Amino acid sequence: MAVCLRCGMWSLLFCCVSSHLKAVLAEDSEICENLRLGQYLCKDPKIDEATQEPENCRDTTAWVECLPAPNISCRLSNGTEIKFNGEEVGFNKTIPCRNV
Ligand SMILES: *[C@@H]1O[C@H](CO)[C@@H](O)[C@H](O)[C@H]1NC(C)=O
Ligand SMILES: *[C@@H]1O[C@H](CO)[C@@H](O)[C@H](O)[C@H]1NC(C)=O
Ligand SMILES: *[C@@H]1O[C@H](CO)[C@@H](O)[C@H](O)[C@H]1NC(C)=O
Repeated sequence: MAVCLRCGMWSLLFCCVSSHLKAVLAEDSEICENLRLGQYLCKDPKIDEATQEPENCRDTTAWVECLPAPNISCRLSNGTEIKFNGEEVGFNKTIPCRNV
């Protein structure tokens, strides 16, 4: 009984460690949209003078282009991994049209 309990704990530990490892490895090539705040900058939307809303509004959302920070590597939506130099667009982010 005591032996089984112990091996149960070991396999639990092994399980935790390996899932942690997996998480670390996956972080290498995360999808650009999943970058944390501070790892990218998004352009300001162009505001339409007449409506005071972003120019590319459709329904209630618009989008802006986001640029990952220099030396950030992530996957584009087409699956290609790129190391960014801070000037390339990595992904589009949707934003609400009002209250920008
Ligand atoms: C990016 O990485 C290169 C090569 O490792 C390094 O020379 C450069 O200073 C880094 N740039 C930034 C902004 O961290
Ligand atoms: C994905 O898009 C990037 C940028 O448009 C391009 O350089 C790359 O070749 C594309 N990869 C594939 C597999 O289509
Ligand atoms: C962002 O959206 C625009 C317009 O739909 C498109 O031309 C552009 O390729 C998109 N960029 C990315 C990185 O998805």
